[in-house]
Amino acid sequence: MTSDKRKFDIVLYGASSFVGQIITGYLATRLEAGSWAVAGRNPDKLRRVLAQHKCENTPVLTADANDSDALTKMCEQTSVVISTVGPYALYGEGVVKACAHTGTGYVDLTGEPHWIKQMQSRYQDIAQANGAQLVHCCGFDSVPSDMGVYFLQQHTIANTGKPCDDIAMRVHRIKGGASGGTVASILNLVEEAQRDKNIRKQLADPYLLCNSPATRIRQPNVKKACYDPVTHRWIAPFIMAAINTRVVHWSNSLRNYPYTEQFTYEEAIVTGRGRKGAVRGWTMTLGLGGFMLAASSKLLRKLLQKHWLPKPGEGPSHKAQQQGYYDIRFYGATSAQRQFVARVTGDRDPGYGSTAKMISECAILLSQQRQKNSELAGGVMSPSVCFGASIIEPLTTYAGLRFEILPSHSAADM
Ligand SMILES: NC(=O)c1ccc[n+]([C@@H]2O[C@H](COP(=O)([O-])OP(=O)(O)OC[C@H]3O[C@@H](n4cnc5c(N)ncnc54)[C@H](OP(=O)(O)O)[C@@H]3O)[C@@H](O)[C@H]2O)c1
Repeated sequence: MTSDKRKFDIVLYGASSFVGQIITGYLATRLEAGSWAVAGRNPDKLRRVLAQHKCENTPVLTADANDSDALTKMCEQTSVVISTVGPYALYGEGVVKACAHTGTGYVDLTGEPHWIKQMQSRYQDIAQANGAQLVHCCGFDSVPSDMGVYFLQQHTIANTGKPCDDIAMRVHRIKGGASGGTVASILNLVEEAQRDKNIRKQLADPYLLCNSPATRIRQPNVKKACYDPVTHRWIAPFIMAAINTRVVHWSNSLRNYPYTEQFTYEEAIVTGRGRKGAVRGWTMTLGLGGFMLAASSKLLRKLLQKHWLPKPGEGPSHKAQQQGYYDIRFYGATSAQRQFVARVTGDRDPGYGSTAKMISECAILLSQQRQKNSELAGGVMSPSVCFGASIIEPLTTYAGLRFEILPSHSAADM
Protein backbone atom coordinates (compact mmCIF):
# COMPACT_ATOMS: atom_id res chain seq x y z
CA MET A 1 0.00 0.00 0.00
CA THR A 2 2.83 2.44 -0.70
CA SER A 3 1.53 5.99 -1.07
CA ASP A 4 1.69 7.40 -4.57
CA LYS A 5 2.62 10.85 -3.30
CA ARG A 6 5.01 10.03 -0.46
CA LYS A 7 7.92 7.64 -0.26
CA PHE A 8 6.69 5.77 2.84
CA ASP A 9 3.30 4.79 4.27
CA ILE A 10 4.60 4.93 7.85
CA VAL A 11 7.66 6.32 9.64
CA LEU A 12 8.15 5.11 13.21
CA TYR A 13 9.73 8.02 15.09
CA GLY A 14 11.40 6.81 18.30
CA ALA A 15 11.97 3.18 17.22
CA SER A 16 14.69 2.91 19.89
CA SER A 17 12.27 3.59 22.76
CA PHE A 18 11.13 0.63 24.83
CA VAL A 19 7.71 0.58 23.19
CA GLY A 20 9.20 1.62 19.81
CA GLN A 21 11.26 -1.57 19.71
CA ILE A 22 8.12 -3.68 20.14
CA ILE A 23 6.35 -1.65 17.44
CA THR A 24 9.32 -2.24 15.11
CA GLY A 25 8.93 -6.01 15.55
CA TYR A 26 5.20 -5.76 14.85
CA LEU A 27 5.53 -3.54 11.75
CA ALA A 28 8.20 -5.87 10.35
CA THR A 29 5.65 -8.69 10.28
CA ARG A 30 2.70 -6.54 9.20
CA LEU A 31 4.06 -4.29 6.41
CA GLU A 32 5.86 -4.76 3.11
CA ALA A 33 9.58 -4.03 3.28
CA GLY A 34 10.27 -0.62 1.75
CA SER A 35 6.85 0.80 2.64
CA TRP A 36 7.97 1.98 6.08
CA ALA A 37 11.02 3.43 7.81
CA VAL A 38 12.33 4.06 11.31
CA ALA A 39 13.56 7.40 12.64
CA GLY A 40 15.19 8.87 15.73
CA ARG A 41 18.20 10.84 16.88
CA ASN A 42 20.71 7.98 16.97
CA PRO A 43 21.01 5.99 13.70
CA ASP A 44 23.36 3.36 15.20
CA LYS A 45 20.86 2.58 17.93
CA LEU A 46 18.07 2.36 15.33
CA ARG A 47 20.11 -0.07 13.20
CA ARG A 48 20.63 -2.29 16.24
CA VAL A 49 16.85 -2.38 16.78
CA LEU A 50 16.33 -3.35 13.12
CA ALA A 51 18.96 -6.09 13.40
CA GLN A 52 17.24 -7.50 16.49
CA HIS A 53 14.07 -7.89 14.44
CA LYS A 54 15.84 -9.11 11.31
CA CYS A 55 14.64 -6.23 9.16
CA GLU A 56 18.03 -4.55 8.57
CA ASN A 57 17.01 -3.28 5.14
CA THR A 58 14.40 -0.94 6.59
CA PRO A 59 15.41 2.67 5.81
CA VAL A 60 16.69 4.79 8.73
CA LEU A 61 16.03 8.55 8.98
CA THR A 62 17.82 10.80 11.47
CA ALA A 63 15.96 13.61 13.27
CA ASP A 64 16.47 15.08 16.72
CA ALA A 65 13.28 16.29 18.43
CA ASN A 66 14.76 19.83 18.52
CA ASP A 67 15.74 19.92 14.83
CA SER A 68 12.72 21.32 13.01
CA ASP A 69 14.31 21.08 9.51
CA ALA A 70 15.09 17.38 9.99
CA LEU A 71 11.57 16.74 11.35
CA THR A 72 9.99 18.52 8.38
CA LYS A 73 12.12 16.49 5.95
CA MET A 74 11.09 13.30 7.74
CA CYS A 75 7.38 14.17 7.63
CA GLU A 76 7.44 15.14 3.95
CA GLN A 77 8.50 11.59 3.10
CA THR A 78 5.64 9.75 4.76
CA SER A 79 1.87 9.51 4.84
CA VAL A 80 1.80 8.84 8.63
CA VAL A 81 4.23 9.25 11.54
CA ILE A 82 4.02 7.08 14.67
CA SER A 83 5.71 8.98 17.49
CA THR A 84 6.90 7.32 20.70
CA VAL A 85 9.37 10.06 21.62
CA GLY A 86 8.32 11.01 25.13
CA PRO A 87 7.64 12.46 27.65
CA TYR A 88 5.64 14.27 24.98
CA ALA A 89 5.40 17.45 27.06
CA LEU A 90 9.22 17.62 26.86
CA TYR A 91 10.04 16.30 23.37
CA GLY A 92 6.77 15.90 21.48
CA GLU A 93 5.84 19.27 20.04
CA GLY A 94 8.34 19.51 17.16
CA VAL A 95 7.02 16.47 15.34
CA VAL A 96 3.37 17.51 15.85
CA LYS A 97 4.20 20.92 14.40
CA ALA A 98 6.04 19.38 11.43
CA CYS A 99 3.11 17.01 10.72
CA ALA A 100 0.59 19.88 10.93
CA HIS A 101 2.58 22.03 8.50
CA THR A 102 3.32 19.24 6.00
CA GLY A 103 -0.21 17.77 6.07
CA THR A 104 1.03 14.44 7.47
CA GLY A 105 -0.98 11.93 9.51
CA TYR A 106 0.24 11.46 13.10
CA VAL A 107 -0.49 9.00 15.91
CA ASP A 108 1.05 8.93 19.40
CA LEU A 109 0.93 7.39 22.88
CA THR A 110 0.70 10.46 25.04
CA GLY A 111 -1.20 10.31 28.31
CA GLU A 112 -0.54 13.99 29.11
CA PRO A 113 -3.88 15.88 28.80
CA HIS A 114 -2.45 19.39 29.35
CA TRP A 115 -0.01 18.82 26.46
CA ILE A 116 -2.85 17.68 24.15
CA LYS A 117 -4.64 20.90 25.07
CA GLN A 118 -1.57 22.89 24.02
CA MET A 119 -1.32 21.00 20.73
CA GLN A 120 -5.03 21.70 20.10
CA SER A 121 -4.66 25.42 20.67
CA ARG A 122 -1.43 25.72 18.65
CA TYR A 123 -2.03 23.37 15.70
CA GLN A 124 -5.77 22.71 15.23
CA ASP A 125 -6.20 25.41 12.55
CA ILE A 126 -2.96 24.57 10.72
CA ALA A 127 -3.74 20.83 10.76
CA GLN A 128 -7.24 21.47 9.47
CA ALA A 129 -5.99 23.73 6.68
CA ASN A 130 -3.34 21.21 5.58
CA GLY A 131 -5.32 17.98 6.01
CA ALA A 132 -3.11 16.62 8.83
CA GLN A 133 -4.89 14.16 11.13
CA LEU A 134 -3.15 14.48 14.52
CA VAL A 135 -4.46 11.57 16.61
CA HIS A 136 -3.40 11.41 20.26
CA CYS A 137 -3.72 8.56 22.78
CA CYS A 138 -3.55 5.55 20.41
CA GLY A 139 -2.35 3.04 23.04
CA PHE A 140 -3.90 1.47 26.13
CA ASP A 141 -4.58 5.06 27.06
CA SER A 142 -7.05 5.53 25.56
CA VAL A 143 -8.12 3.22 22.70
CA PRO A 144 -9.97 0.58 24.81
CA SER A 145 -11.84 3.28 26.80
CA ASP A 146 -12.60 5.58 23.88
CA MET A 147 -13.58 2.74 21.52
CA GLY A 148 -15.35 0.74 24.27
CA VAL A 149 -17.65 3.69 24.99
CA TYR A 150 -18.15 4.31 21.27
CA PHE A 151 -19.01 0.63 20.72
CA LEU A 152 -21.49 0.51 23.62
CA GLN A 153 -23.14 3.77 22.57
CA GLN A 154 -23.52 2.58 18.95
CA HIS A 155 -25.18 -0.61 20.23
CA THR A 156 -27.46 1.27 22.63
CA ILE A 157 -28.52 3.84 20.02
CA ALA A 158 -29.23 1.04 17.50
CA ASN A 159 -31.44 -0.74 20.08
CA THR A 160 -33.24 2.12 21.80
CA GLY A 161 -32.73 5.18 19.58
CA LYS A 162 -30.91 6.90 22.43
CA PRO A 163 -27.43 6.66 23.98
CA CYS A 164 -26.56 5.71 27.56
CA ASP A 165 -26.61 8.80 29.79
CA ASP A 166 -24.12 7.27 32.23
CA ILE A 167 -21.32 4.78 31.69
CA ALA A 168 -19.11 3.31 34.41
CA MET A 169 -16.00 1.54 33.15
CA ARG A 170 -14.62 -1.15 35.42
CA VAL A 171 -11.26 -2.89 35.02
CA HIS A 172 -12.07 -6.50 35.97
CA ARG A 173 -8.73 -8.14 35.20
CA ILE A 174 -5.39 -6.62 34.23
CA LYS A 175 -1.78 -7.78 34.22
CA GLY A 176 1.11 -5.62 33.07
CA GLY A 177 3.97 -3.34 34.08
CA ALA A 178 5.43 0.10 33.37
CA SER A 179 8.40 1.31 31.31
CA GLY A 180 10.94 4.05 31.98
CA GLY A 181 9.26 6.39 29.48
CA THR A 182 5.85 5.98 31.12
CA VAL A 183 7.29 6.61 34.56
CA ALA A 184 9.22 9.65 33.26
CA SER A 185 5.98 11.01 31.74
CA ILE A 186 4.06 10.60 35.02
CA LEU A 187 6.86 12.17 37.08
CA ASN A 188 7.20 15.06 34.62
CA LEU A 189 3.43 15.61 34.79
CA VAL A 190 3.52 15.76 38.60
CA GLU A 191 6.50 18.16 38.45
CA GLU A 192 4.81 20.47 35.93
CA ALA A 193 1.58 20.47 37.96
CA GLN A 194 3.52 21.38 41.07
CA ARG A 195 5.24 24.27 39.33
CA ASP A 196 2.21 25.70 37.57
CA LYS A 197 -1.18 26.35 39.17
CA ASN A 198 -2.81 26.63 35.76
CA ILE A 199 -1.70 23.09 34.82
CA ARG A 200 -3.08 21.79 38.15
CA LYS A 201 -6.39 23.40 37.28
CA GLN A 202 -6.35 21.94 33.78
CA LEU A 203 -5.59 18.42 35.02
CA ALA A 204 -8.58 18.56 37.39
CA ASP A 205 -11.00 19.51 34.60
CA PRO A 206 -12.87 16.54 33.07
CA TYR A 207 -13.87 18.79 30.15
CA LEU A 208 -10.33 20.04 29.51
CA LEU A 209 -10.21 18.89 25.90
CA CYS A 210 -13.80 19.73 24.97
CA ASN A 211 -14.90 22.65 22.81
CA SER A 212 -16.63 24.76 25.48
CA PRO A 213 -19.56 22.48 26.40
CA ALA A 214 -22.83 24.33 26.92
CA THR A 215 -23.46 22.25 30.05
CA ARG A 216 -20.77 21.28 32.55
CA ILE A 217 -22.21 18.70 34.85
CA ARG A 218 -20.40 17.26 37.85
CA GLN A 219 -18.62 14.06 36.81
CA PRO A 220 -18.33 11.10 39.18
CA ASN A 221 -14.75 10.36 40.23
CA VAL A 222 -13.60 7.36 42.27
CA LYS A 223 -10.94 8.82 44.59
CA LYS A 224 -10.70 6.05 47.18
CA ALA A 225 -11.76 2.44 47.81
CA CYS A 226 -15.51 1.98 48.07
CA TYR A 227 -18.27 -0.58 47.58
CA ASP A 228 -19.55 -0.42 44.01
CA PRO A 229 -23.31 -0.74 43.41
CA VAL A 230 -22.61 -1.36 39.70
CA THR A 231 -20.56 -4.58 40.07
CA HIS A 232 -21.47 -5.42 43.71
CA ARG A 233 -17.77 -5.56 44.50
CA TRP A 234 -15.14 -3.27 45.97
CA ILE A 235 -13.40 -0.84 43.64
CA ALA A 236 -10.38 1.48 43.80
CA PRO A 237 -9.11 4.43 41.71
CA PHE A 238 -7.70 3.50 38.29
CA ILE A 239 -4.58 5.52 37.45
CA MET A 240 -5.39 5.78 33.72
CA ALA A 241 -8.81 7.37 34.43
CA ALA A 242 -7.03 10.74 34.55
CA ILE A 243 -6.45 10.60 30.80
CA ASN A 244 -9.14 8.16 29.59
CA THR A 245 -12.10 10.12 31.00
CA ARG A 246 -10.81 13.32 29.32
CA VAL A 247 -10.50 11.54 25.98
CA VAL A 248 -14.02 10.06 26.18
CA HIS A 249 -15.54 13.50 26.87
CA TRP A 250 -13.36 15.00 24.13
CA SER A 251 -14.74 12.49 21.59
CA ASN A 252 -18.29 13.34 22.67
CA SER A 253 -17.57 17.03 22.17
CA LEU A 254 -15.77 16.64 18.81
CA ARG A 255 -18.76 14.72 17.44
CA ASN A 256 -21.13 17.38 18.76
CA TYR A 257 -22.45 15.41 21.75
CA PRO A 258 -23.98 12.19 20.37
CA TYR A 259 -23.80 10.87 23.99
CA THR A 260 -25.70 14.06 25.07
CA GLU A 261 -24.28 16.96 27.10
CA GLN A 262 -25.53 15.32 30.33
CA PHE A 263 -23.35 12.25 29.74
CA THR A 264 -21.34 11.03 32.75
CA TYR A 265 -18.34 8.73 32.60
CA GLU A 266 -16.06 7.27 35.27
CA GLU A 267 -13.44 4.54 35.54
CA ALA A 268 -12.32 2.35 38.45
CA ILE A 269 -10.59 -0.97 39.07
CA VAL A 270 -12.48 -3.89 40.66
CA THR A 271 -10.65 -5.31 43.71
CA GLY A 272 -13.03 -8.12 44.72
CA ARG A 273 -15.83 -9.10 47.06
CA GLY A 274 -16.15 -8.91 50.84
CA ARG A 275 -13.35 -8.18 53.28
CA LYS A 276 -10.62 -9.31 50.86
CA GLY A 277 -11.92 -6.89 48.20
CA ALA A 278 -12.01 -4.05 50.73
CA VAL A 279 -8.43 -4.73 51.89
CA ARG A 280 -7.16 -4.87 48.30
CA GLY A 281 -9.10 -1.70 47.47
CA TRP A 282 -7.59 0.23 50.38
CA THR A 283 -4.11 -1.18 49.68
CA MET A 284 -4.36 0.07 46.10
CA THR A 285 -5.73 3.45 47.18
CA LEU A 286 -2.95 3.95 49.72
CA GLY A 287 -0.29 2.67 47.28
CA LEU A 288 -1.39 5.09 44.57
CA GLY A 289 -1.72 7.96 47.04
CA GLY A 290 1.72 7.17 48.51
CA PHE A 291 3.30 7.08 45.04
CA MET A 292 1.76 10.45 44.10
CA LEU A 293 2.87 11.95 47.39
CA ALA A 294 6.43 10.68 46.92
CA ALA A 295 6.43 11.87 43.30
CA SER A 296 5.53 15.37 44.40
CA SER A 297 8.68 15.66 46.55
CA LYS A 298 11.76 16.61 44.51
CA LEU A 299 14.08 14.52 46.68
CA LEU A 300 11.84 11.42 46.78
CA ARG A 301 11.20 11.72 43.04
CA LYS A 302 14.95 11.57 42.41
CA LEU A 303 15.37 8.61 44.77
CA LEU A 304 12.46 6.76 43.17
CA GLN A 305 13.94 7.28 39.71
CA LYS A 306 17.44 6.30 40.77
CA HIS A 307 16.70 3.21 42.84
CA TRP A 308 13.25 1.75 42.23
CA LEU A 309 11.58 2.78 39.00
CA PRO A 310 12.47 1.60 35.49
CA LYS A 311 14.85 3.89 33.55
CA PRO A 312 14.34 5.14 29.95
CA GLY A 313 14.63 2.13 27.64
CA GLU A 314 13.59 -0.36 30.37
CA GLY A 315 10.24 -2.07 30.85
CA PRO A 316 8.42 -5.41 31.31
CA SER A 317 10.29 -8.51 30.06
CA HIS A 318 9.24 -10.28 26.86
CA LYS A 319 7.72 -13.06 28.99
CA ALA A 320 5.74 -10.53 31.08
CA GLN A 321 4.48 -8.89 27.88
CA GLN A 322 3.32 -12.26 26.52
CA GLN A 323 1.62 -13.22 29.80
CA GLY A 324 -0.19 -9.90 30.22
CA TYR A 325 -3.87 -9.26 29.49
CA TYR A 326 -6.84 -7.04 30.34
CA ASP A 327 -10.60 -7.35 30.63
CA ILE A 328 -12.56 -4.12 31.04
CA ARG A 329 -16.34 -3.67 31.12
CA PHE A 330 -18.56 -0.71 30.33
CA TYR A 331 -21.81 -0.57 32.34
CA GLY A 332 -24.24 1.81 30.67
CA ALA A 333 -27.66 3.08 31.75
CA THR A 334 -30.15 4.97 29.59
CA SER A 335 -32.61 7.61 30.79
CA ALA A 336 -35.33 4.92 30.53
CA GLN A 337 -33.35 2.80 33.07
CA ARG A 338 -32.27 0.23 30.50
CA GLN A 339 -28.89 -1.37 31.17
CA PHE A 340 -26.31 -2.32 28.54
CA VAL A 341 -22.87 -3.81 29.10
CA ALA A 342 -19.88 -4.09 26.77
CA ARG A 343 -16.61 -5.89 27.34
CA VAL A 344 -13.23 -5.12 25.77
CA THR A 345 -10.40 -7.61 26.23
CA GLY A 346 -6.83 -7.66 24.99
CA ASP A 347 -4.02 -10.19 24.90
CA ARG A 348 -0.46 -9.21 25.97
CA ASP A 349 0.31 -6.66 28.67
CA PRO A 350 -1.73 -3.48 28.16
CA GLY A 351 1.01 -0.81 28.05
CA TYR A 352 3.48 -2.50 25.69
CA GLY A 353 2.55 -5.78 23.96
CA SER A 354 -1.03 -4.64 23.33
CA THR A 355 -0.26 -0.92 22.94
CA ALA A 356 2.35 -1.62 20.23
CA LYS A 357 -0.26 -3.50 18.18
CA MET A 358 -2.99 -0.90 18.78
CA ILE A 359 -0.95 2.12 17.68
CA SER A 360 0.41 0.23 14.68
CA GLU A 361 -3.11 -0.67 13.52
CA CYS A 362 -4.20 2.97 14.00
CA ALA A 363 -1.27 4.11 11.82
CA ILE A 364 -1.94 1.50 9.13
CA LEU A 365 -5.64 2.39 8.96
CA LEU A 366 -4.89 6.13 8.86
CA SER A 367 -2.44 5.62 6.02
CA GLN A 368 -5.03 3.55 4.10
CA GLN A 369 -7.73 6.16 4.69
CA ARG A 370 -5.46 8.97 3.51
CA GLN A 371 -4.69 7.08 0.32
CA LYS A 372 -8.36 6.40 -0.40
CA ASN A 373 -9.46 9.95 0.36
CA SER A 374 -7.10 12.82 -0.36
CA GLU A 375 -9.67 15.23 1.14
CA LEU A 376 -9.70 13.51 4.56
CA ALA A 377 -10.43 16.17 7.22
CA GLY A 378 -7.48 17.25 9.32
CA GLY A 379 -7.35 18.43 12.93
CA VAL A 380 -6.32 17.38 16.43
CA MET A 381 -8.48 14.42 17.39
CA SER A 382 -9.10 11.33 19.50
CA PRO A 383 -8.95 7.75 18.12
CA SER A 384 -12.73 7.14 18.02
CA VAL A 385 -13.30 10.44 16.20
CA CYS A 386 -10.63 9.76 13.58
CA PHE A 387 -11.49 6.10 12.99
CA GLY A 388 -15.00 5.38 14.27
CA ALA A 389 -16.13 1.76 13.85
CA SER A 390 -13.56 1.10 11.11
CA ILE A 391 -10.74 0.49 13.63
CA ILE A 392 -12.60 -2.37 15.37
CA GLU A 393 -11.97 -4.88 12.58
CA PRO A 394 -8.16 -4.39 12.44
CA LEU A 395 -7.97 -4.33 16.25
CA THR A 396 -9.79 -7.65 16.49
CA THR A 397 -8.22 -9.33 13.44
CA TYR A 398 -4.60 -8.36 14.09
CA ALA A 399 -4.16 -6.72 17.50
CA GLY A 400 -5.70 -9.31 19.87
CA LEU A 401 -8.62 -7.16 21.07
CA ARG A 402 -12.22 -8.28 21.38
CA PHE A 403 -15.32 -6.09 21.61
CA GLU A 404 -18.54 -7.75 22.74
CA ILE A 405 -21.94 -6.96 24.22
CA LEU A 406 -22.76 -8.97 27.37
CA PRO A 407 -26.16 -9.93 28.75
CA SER A 408 -26.50 -7.14 31.32
CA HIS A 409 -27.98 -9.07 34.28
CA SER A 410 -24.93 -11.26 34.85
CA ALA A 411 -22.20 -9.18 33.23
CA ALA A 412 -20.11 -8.66 36.38
CA ASP A 413 -19.90 -12.42 37.00
CA MET A 414 -18.80 -13.50 33.53
N1 LIG B 1 -0.51 5.43 26.15
C1 LIG B 1 0.03 4.27 26.46
O1 LIG B 1 -0.68 3.33 26.65
C2 LIG B 1 1.52 4.19 26.54
C3 LIG B 1 2.15 2.95 26.63
C4 LIG B 1 3.54 2.91 26.61
C5 LIG B 1 4.27 4.08 26.54
N2 LIG B 1 3.64 5.27 26.48
C6 LIG B 1 4.38 6.54 26.33
O2 LIG B 1 5.26 6.39 25.23
C7 LIG B 1 6.43 7.15 25.43
C8 LIG B 1 7.64 6.25 25.24
O3 LIG B 1 7.75 5.36 26.34
P1 LIG B 1 9.03 4.39 26.46
O4 LIG B 1 9.08 3.82 27.82
O5 LIG B 1 9.03 3.46 25.30
O6 LIG B 1 10.21 5.50 26.32
P2 LIG B 1 11.79 5.37 26.43
O7 LIG B 1 12.22 3.95 26.36
O8 LIG B 1 12.23 6.21 27.56
O9 LIG B 1 12.26 6.07 25.05
C9 LIG B 1 12.22 7.44 24.83
C10 LIG B 1 12.51 7.68 23.36
O10 LIG B 1 12.60 9.08 23.12
C11 LIG B 1 13.75 9.32 22.35
N3 LIG B 1 14.24 10.68 22.55
C12 LIG B 1 14.47 11.33 23.71
N4 LIG B 1 14.94 12.57 23.46
C13 LIG B 1 14.97 12.71 22.11
C14 LIG B 1 15.36 13.76 21.24
N5 LIG B 1 15.81 14.92 21.70
N6 LIG B 1 15.25 13.55 19.91
C15 LIG B 1 14.81 12.37 19.41
N7 LIG B 1 14.45 11.33 20.19
C16 LIG B 1 14.53 11.51 21.53
C17 LIG B 1 14.75 8.29 22.81
O11 LIG B 1 15.79 8.16 21.87
P3 LIG B 1 17.23 7.43 22.23
O12 LIG B 1 16.93 5.96 22.24
O13 LIG B 1 18.11 7.85 21.13
O14 LIG B 1 17.62 7.92 23.59
C18 LIG B 1 13.82 7.07 22.86
O15 LIG B 1 13.64 6.53 21.57
C19 LIG B 1 6.31 7.74 26.85
O16 LIG B 1 5.86 9.08 26.74
C20 LIG B 1 5.25 6.88 27.52
O17 LIG B 1 4.52 7.57 28.50
C21 LIG B 1 2.28 5.34 26.50
